[in-house]
Amino acid sequence: MKLHSFVAAEVESAFAAAGLAGNPIVLQAAKNADFGDYQINGVMGAAKKAKQNPRALAQTVADFLANSKIIVSAEVAGPGFVNLRIQPSFLAHGIQAALHDSHLGVTQSAQPQTVVIDYSSPNLAKEMHVGHLRSSIIGDSLNRVLTFLGHRVIAQNHVGDWGTQFGMLVAYLVAQQQAGRADLELADLEQFYRNAKIRFDEDDAFADTARAYVVKLQSGDEQVLALWKQFVAASLKHAQSVYQRLGLKLTEADVMGESAYNAMLQPTVDELINKGLVVDSEGAKVAFLDEFKNQDGEPAAFIVQKKGGGFLYASTDLACLRYRVQVLQANRLLYVVDARQSLHFAELFTLARKAGWLPENVRAEHVPFGTMMGKDGKPFKTRSGDTVKLVDLLDEADERATALVRSKNPDLALDEAQHIGHVVGLGAVKYADLSKNRSSDYVFDWDSMLSFEGNTAPYLQYAYTRVSSVLRKAGCFDEQASVVLTEAAEKQLALALLQFEDVLDNVAQSATPISWQLIYINWPLYLAVFMKVVRF
Ligand code: ARG
Repeated sequence: MKLHSFVAAEVESAFAAAGLAGNPIVLQAAKNADFGDYQINGVMGAAKKAKQNPRALAQTVADFLANSKIIVSAEVAGPGFVNLRIQPSFLAHGIQAALHDSHLGVTQSAQPQTVVIDYSSPNLAKEMHVGHLRSSIIGDSLNRVLTFLGHRVIAQNHVGDWGTQFGMLVAYLVAQQQAGRADLELADLEQFYRNAKIRFDEDDAFADTARAYVVKLQSGDEQVLALWKQFVAASLKHAQSVYQRLGLKLTEADVMGESAYNAMLQPTVDELINKGLVVDSEGAKVAFLDEFKNQDGEPAAFIVQKKGGGFLYASTDLACLRYRVQVLQANRLLYVVDARQSLHFAELFTLARKAGWLPENVRAEHVPFGTMMGKDGKPFKTRSGDTVKLVDLLDEADERATALVRSKNPDLALDEAQHIGHVVGLGAVKYADLSKNRSSDYVFDWDSMLSFEGNTAPYLQYAYTRVSSVLRKAGCFDEQASVVLTEAAEKQLALALLQFEDVLDNVAQSATPISWQLIYINWPLYLAVFMKVVRF
């Protein structure tokens, strides 16, 4: 149920009755339940415009609202706020309907969109590391929420699988195959990358081979391509195992790497040239964007093709955006990518709009997130200063959480403690991310994320376990009994549950699955409790 819209409609008509039609009502869910369920803040602004006394006007609005079927009280407060309380029978009715609805009372979007979400998107020339964690978690949450609301979500894993490093990696793979060690080496990808780089830096003949492979790869040499495929497959298998551990929805079918756009790059650049959007600048093809001026007032240079004909990250993103709009028929594009790429996306979208590849009715949004910091305030690294591998981080989460579980329940069998430790550890890592403002940097701190107090995963999971046990003890109940709300806490719970759809809409609109909004994702749990509490 869209509770907010229901209440807003009542307030709109009270505004109209009071002669204030057209003024913004500014309706908000109340922050403090002692004062009411909702608060209207729009009367003051309207009074100022109409040159009327705000409190008197607020009283007129409140009087009209008193006739509403869904509002039980409307009280004027402060300089002209109106505090509302919703009729308990209306809430009870909503809960009753939700109880018997397999979709939890949430309506499917009346205008379902095709939403392409670009997330995770690691560079395959590296093992997955903590830098990929936020994109993966936030992107997957958005995928789930938008799907639940009835949109058609197309996940796209824009892996970096193309470019000069791959010549080096393929050359190294060949050398290892010749030595009969390829499988062994591929078993530890991080080591593989490191060894390839060392060889590249130290062995000139190898470096030459590597460069020759890049050329062969880009000109479509079958043999080199086959080797490249072998390497990419091993790397993707690794990524997929991480996704599985994280419980993500991403599958191999969602992979649409940079290489997939290879054939579209030149035509994309050519079209920009034909449209006069790109000019030759010192041999490179560049779009000068007046919208992004530097301190000296010069337009930003968005390079789409390098001197010598090579393509870049930006060229691929242009071809990719066209593909998402034209082939995937997206109405909305979300790019869940590090905040440090904000300028790239702003320029990309601007150029794409100018080229006519991003029609007005298609929304393109960079969904930025901040850097994961260590407790020392610097980007999260291992003690020796290396980037933290994602598998190591998840192992550590398991270990720490299992130790915690065992310390709280010394009698628990080891395998059970490990199982719970796994659930708690993974929950802690995911929730620590989602409970923070996504666009700012956040401090990754094991102690606070594994704490049983505060807004943490262990706290929620613990509450869930307690509640489940209460429910088990309570036994069965009468499905047909009607919901009656009498206690203040019951009404508050019902109100929170019925705001579920508003919260999901908010998450979907703002592409921000964070903190207080996420609390409501646990609503089936609250609802279960509620059913028991209210009916016994
Ligand atoms: N592979 C890139 C990186 O690791 C992220 C790609 C994001 N998606 C995109 N369409 N540019 O930074």
